[in-house]
Amino acid sequence: MRLTDRMQRLGTETAFEVFARAQALERQGRDVVHLELGEPDFQSPDSAVEAVAAALRGGMTKYTTSPGLLELRAKIAEVEGPRRGLRFAPEQVVVTPGAKPIMFYVILALAQEGDEVLYPDPGFPIYESMIRFAGATAVPYPLREENGFCMDPDYVASRLSPRTRLVIISSPNNPTGGVERRENLARLASVLREHDTWILSDEIYSHFIFEGSHHSIASFESAHEKTVVLDGFSKTYSMTGWRLGWGIMPQELVPHITRLIINSVSCTSGFVQKGGLGAISTREKTVPPMLAEYRRRRETIVSGLNQIPGVRCALPKGTFYAFPNVSSFGKKSRDVANYLLEEAGVACLSGTAFGNEGEGYLRLSFATSMDKIRTALDRMHDAFGRFQG
Ligand SMILES: Cc1ncc(COP(=O)(O)O)c(C=O)c1O
Repeated sequence: MRLTDRMQRLGTETAFEVFARAQALERQGRDVVHLELGEPDFQSPDSAVEAVAAALRGGMTKYTTSPGLLELRAKIAEVEGPRRGLRFAPEQVVVTPGAKPIMFYVILALAQEGDEVLYPDPGFPIYESMIRFAGATAVPYPLREENGFCMDPDYVASRLSPRTRLVIISSPNNPTGGVERRENLARLASVLREHDTWILSDEIYSHFIFEGSHHSIASFESAHEKTVVLDGFSKTYSMTGWRLGWGIMPQELVPHITRLIINSVSCTSGFVQKGGLGAISTREKTVPPMLAEYRRRRETIVSGLNQIPGVRCALPKGTFYAFPNVSSFGKKSRDVANYLLEEAGVACLSGTAFGNEGEGYLRLSFATSMDKIRTALDRMHDAFGRFQG
């Protein structure tokens, strides 16, 4: 088969590959604890299910407006703006099937051959994949453990060039659980004032912060006019399979992102958007208990990991991921992750699935039950004890 050159540049998400390998082991009768997928284990809110059922019964089965139902866009602006100290017009909100399309569209719309895009390493693997697919040069900036997995805004500034068209920020960060400090964001916003560059701020874990609070770079005046905020329903409302996400962006970008929607998916399913409205309406009842449960799991998994000789794990400040340092074993992270899957029946990801800076680390999702987390810890304790360093 002859594929286009751009297809050679397209990456993937290792999580789905590890998931498939874990399932293959399960088919052979092995018991596997799944800590590889970033998928909340809670039920989607009843309010969402009921709203969808009502919408479907009411005949809401047709195409709908491409940037999203105005009612949902208005609700997102009303709820999500003030959380970030911002006021947005409903027309600045664009709704998509999941949050990933916002990433895809924004990168396609703003970056091409000859352009550079800065992105966090470790970071969500789709950033690099999409930047390269768009033909632009992917320029990583590191998030280091000794810095609380936060960016160094001066380093980011040093990587800016006249060709930089977009800077991607991810806070809270998948995979490290790092949360950007307000002063770092302020510093970066002020540096970017001088540059003709856009910002894509991936805030999909913004509701899951354990220490301090969420800050968006969009809240700084110098960044406001050139930032796209990406967020959605997958994590906040445990609605991964519904495919519902959104971006809030300067008005001038909206028609272009809308054209990309028209050219690809036409619109986001109307009844799913009604489900999103249902989920938002009960957010005060559903989100805090999830956060409290993640907090308990975070304590358990991090203290358990730190009891394993050779493993060191910092407390993640946000998300539902632990990012332990396993470099003392002197093996490649990928080999460590493979060993844990094959020998201990614990599926997790190598830090390198998120970039070169992830070498020496593993990513473990704690969006799973406390029982499974305890089982995984016991198995890892034994397996690491037998591990030849
Ligand atoms: C950092 C980050 N951004 C975006 C997404 C995509 O979210 P969605 O499932 O809504 O497309 C994910 C999903 O894992 C993520 O971890």
